[in-house]
Amino acid sequence: MKYMGSKARFAKDLLPIILKDRTANQTYIEPFAGGMNMIDKVDGIRIANDQHEELMAMWQALIYDKWDPPQSVSEEAYKDIKYNQDKYPKYLVGYVGFNSFGGKWFAGYRRDKEGKRDYWGEHYRNITKQVPKLDGVLLSCKSYNELEIPENSIVYCDPPYASTTKYRDAFDHDQFWEWCRQQSKAGHRVFISEYNAPDDFECIWEKGAKTTFSWHAENLAPKESVERLFVFKV
Ligand SMILES: C[S@@+](CC[C@H](N)C(=O)[O-])C[C@H]1O[C@@H](n2cnc3c(N)ncnc32)[C@H](O)[C@@H]1O
Repeated sequence: MKYMGSKARFAKDLLPIILKDRTANQTYIEPFAGGMNMIDKVDGIRIANDQHEELMAMWQALIYDKWDPPQSVSEEAYKDIKYNQDKYPKYLVGYVGFNSFGGKWFAGYRRDKEGKRDYWGEHYRNITKQVPKLDGVLLSCKSYNELEIPENSIVYCDPPYASTTKYRDAFDHDQFWEWCRQQSKAGHRVFISEYNAPDDFECIWEKGAKTTFSWHAENLAPKESVERLFVFKV
């Protein structure tokens, strides 16, 4: 699914590192699963959490309620759903809200330019292609710091990056890093995607990338930035 801050492009680099020492029955958990563009390439016991209610309602409907989403939505309907969200089921609001410019929540209707792009068809195909790969994933919708993490888990964190567009609530980065320290000390293997980290974290992978969009960088996009993966230095 096209999603702001999607890690689809980096999954083939990141997953071999993150899953390298995974043991049988070891849980893989993502506190910030978003568009599921990493976890859809992992097998075994998986937990996908994100605090975005409509997004998780959408995944629930698609994966477990076998919902077949619309293959096209008119501009009029898009606007009605955007401005009257309470009138519609959350899963539909989630599905429609994320088919916007850059995969950003209700960022504007994407019009077909002279019939060259079928944005709704693309959205439909991208998502429905993912769904079978997500069968069995345990879904959860809460803030990362309220999660109960099974013992000895692999935790991959892809939080809203620092100095990026504010989402619904401001994200407290200091509190997040402190949580990562605690989880690492508790015995979990914690990996964090970020541009930078406090000194007691170590960068174990990096790659230059063009950010095209603002989840990651209001001030940086669209110039070159360096994607990094960090772990706590125990
Ligand atoms: C960079 S995106 C994750 C993208 C995902 N890795 C992908 O490849 O599609 C960050 C996600 O964090 C979620 N988020 C923000 N604050 C959160 C919090 N306190 N707890 C859980 N999720 C949160 C947002 O809803 C968003 O989906």
